[in-house]
Amino acid sequence: MKEISAGLSEAHTGSAIESLVEELAQLRKTINHHNYRYHSLDSPELSDAQFDLLFRRLREIETEHPELVSEDSPSQRIGAKPLDGFSQIKHELPMLSLANAFDTDDMFDFDRRIKTRLEDHETITYACEPKIDGIAVSLLYENGKLTYGATRGDGSIGEDITQNIRTIEAVPLSLIGEGFPDRLEVRGEVYISKSTFKALNIAAEKAGEKIFANPRNAAAGSVRQLDSRLTARRKLTMYCYSVGLVEGGELAATQQEILEQLRSWGLRTNPIVEAVDGIENCIHYYEKLLKERDALDYEIDGVVFKVNNMMLQTRLGVLTRTPRWAVAHKFPPEEGITHLLDVEFQVGRTGAITPVARLKPVKVGGVTISNATLHNMDEVKRLNLLIGDTVLIQRAGDVIPKVIKVFEDKRPKEAREIIMPDSCPACGSKIILVEGEVIARCSGGLLCQAQRKERIRHFASRLALDIEGLGDKLVEQLVDADLIKTPADLFLLAIDDLVQLERMAPKSANNLLSALKKSKITTLSRLIYALGIQEVGESTARNLAVYFKSLNGVIQADEDQLVLVPDIGPIVAANIAHFFNQEINLKVLESLLDSGVVPEFETEEITQILEGQTYVLTGTLSQLTRNEAKVKLQAMGAKVSGSVSKNTSCVVAGDAAGSKLSKARELGVQIIDEDGLIKLLNGGNS
Ligand code: IVH
Repeated sequence: MKEISAGLSEAHTGSAIESLVEELAQLRKTINHHNYRYHSLDSPELSDAQFDLLFRRLREIETEHPELVSEDSPSQRIGAKPLDGFSQIKHELPMLSLANAFDTDDMFDFDRRIKTRLEDHETITYACEPKIDGIAVSLLYENGKLTYGATRGDGSIGEDITQNIRTIEAVPLSLIGEGFPDRLEVRGEVYISKSTFKALNIAAEKAGEKIFANPRNAAAGSVRQLDSRLTARRKLTMYCYSVGLVEGGELAATQQEILEQLRSWGLRTNPIVEAVDGIENCIHYYEKLLKERDALDYEIDGVVFKVNNMMLQTRLGVLTRTPRWAVAHKFPPEEGITHLLDVEFQVGRTGAITPVARLKPVKVGGVTISNATLHNMDEVKRLNLLIGDTVLIQRAGDVIPKVIKVFEDKRPKEAREIIMPDSCPACGSKIILVEGEVIARCSGGLLCQAQRKERIRHFASRLALDIEGLGDKLVEQLVDADLIKTPADLFLLAIDDLVQLERMAPKSANNLLSALKKSKITTLSRLIYALGIQEVGESTARNLAVYFKSLNGVIQADEDQLVLVPDIGPIVAANIAHFFNQEINLKVLESLLDSGVVPEFETEEITQILEGQTYVLTGTLSQLTRNEAKVKLQAMGAKVSGSVSKNTSCVVAGDAAGSKLSKARELGVQIIDEDGLIKLLNGGNS
C-alpha cells in the first residue's frame, strides 16, 4: 500500500486516475457488501481487521483525492456539521399507528372483524413481527439513492433527520441488487440494542456524563440530535417493517415477501418474522416471544400481526389513524417485587402533599426503580400499605412507577403504619385536609420553601413565561440562597446575585438575565396560567383572558362573574377569587408589572368568531394536522369535540372520513371539507 500512496502524490496521468476511480468503485462495492453482511444480515464474512484494511485504503484514496468522494461512499457516515434545527417533511402517505389488543379475546375479535369485512371465512395468513420499542422513521430512496430520512412526527408531518439517518450503518446509502422501484419509501424502527446501550452508559458514566434511562430514550435522543457526529457515536441500528410510497415499480404480493425484497436490496429486516395461518398460531407466536423476550438484544413491547396478503390489506383499508389489517398485541406492563423502605411526603406547587414510596432498588425492564408515587392517602388505605411491606410495582414505558399490590402474607412483624404528618415537612406550617377532598395541603402558601420553588418553576415553564435556562436546579439554588421568594423577585435579580451561585459563570448569568428580559413580553393568558392558581390550566387561563380581556378585569371579577366564563364552574371560580383576594398575590402581581412584565393581547385571543360553536374533526387532513386544526379552531372560540351529536355545529370531514361523517349526515349537522376549514381559519365564514 505504501507504494501505491507514494505514487499518488506524483502528477497523475489520465490512466492512473482512471484506475484509481475503478479501484475506488470496487472498494466501495466490497465495503458495502461487507457492511451489509455485518450490520444487516448479522453474518460477517471478514474479520474486523480484514475489514479495517479495506476501509483504510478507501480513506487513503479519498484523502488524497477529495474530488473523488461521493455522497454515498461508506466513508460518509461520520456525521456532518451541526444543524440549527430540523426542517419539516410532509409524508407523502400518512404514517399510521396501530390498534392495540390487550388479550386473547381482543385477538379473536380482530380476526373475526377481518373475516366479516372480507365476507370470507377462510383462514387468514398473518405476518407476525416483534414490535420494536424504538423510533419510527421513514426513508426515501429515489433511483436507489437515499434522499431523505424523517421522523414520524404526528403522522403527516415529521422532521428531516437525513443527516442522522446517514450515520446508521444498517441503512444503505444506496440500495444494492436490482428490481427496486424508482421511488421507494421504506418505514421501520430505529433503535439501540441492549448491549450497545449498556456500553454507552458505561462510557457516559466514566466520562461523568448523563446516563440514559433506557434504550428507547437513548435512541429517541440520538435520532433527534442536531449534531449528527454525536448520532454517529451512538451506534443506532434499524429494522425495516413496511413500505409507504412506491412509484415506478412493483412489490411482491405478501408482507413476508416484501420484507425479503427489502432485505435483498440491502435493508435490514427482522429475521424472526414469521407468516402463520390462523389467529391461534398468532397467539402461539406471541406466547413464544414473550418467553424469549429477555434473550433478544433489543427491547420489544409486544407483537405486531399483519394480514400477509397485500391485496387483502387493500380491501380491508384503513381507519383514520390505524389500518384495519394490523394489530399490536402488547406485552403486559413490566412489573417487579421489592420492599417499601419508607414513605416521604412531597409538597407540590399548590401545597398538595403527596406520599412517595422509597423502595429498595429493583430492576424492572432494565431500569432501576427506587421511588414510586402513592398519589394520596386514600390510595395508601386502598392498598393497605405499611412501611416494611413487600410490594409489586409496575412500570409502563416512561410513566412514573406505581405500587400496584401489597403481599400481606409477607408482612414483617415490625411493619409500621404510614402517617400523614400534621405539619409541612418543608416549612412546618399546618397541613389541612379540605372537606370532601382526598388531597392534604400545606397551609403555608408562599411562606413555604417547597411551594415557592414549585411556583417559580411553574412560572418559568414552557407554557407559562417560558424563561429559557431557568431549570429546576437553578430555581432550587436561588430559593435556597434566599435570593428569590416569589416569581416577581426573578426580575429583580442582578448579575452580582447570580455569579455568587455555584456553577454559575458570568456568561450563563448574562444569558439568564437576557432570557428574563425577553420573557417580560408575554400574553395575558400565559401570565394568568403562570400565576399557578389551583386548577387553572392553560385552557382555563385562555378562557379568562378572552372573557375579561385585561388583567384588571380578571382580578376584579367576583365568583358570580367568573362562572360565566366557558368551562369555569363554582369550584374553580372560588379558587380564582380566593387567589386574587390574598394580599401577597396582589403584591406579587404589582411587582411583576412594575418590573415591566407586559401581558399583550394575542389577536387570536380577541377574535372569537366561533364562540359557542362545537366542531368535530374527522378523516385525514392534508394541509395541516388535526391537532393544528383543533388549536386554531379553539383559538377562534370554538369547542372541539370527539363525537358528533345534535349539539355539534359543524363537522370537518377530511379524507377517508368514516362513521362520524355518516352520523353528521344522519343528524343533518353542517359538514365542511378541508378547503372549507382553511377558508374559515383564514377569516372567511363557511
Ligand atoms: S407497522 C400501519 N410493524 O409501533 C402499520 N410497527 O403503534 C404501522 N413498531 O409507530 C406500523 N415494530 O413505530 C409496525 N414490526 C412493526 C413494528 C412497528 C414497532 C412501532 C412503530 C409504530 C408503532 C405502532
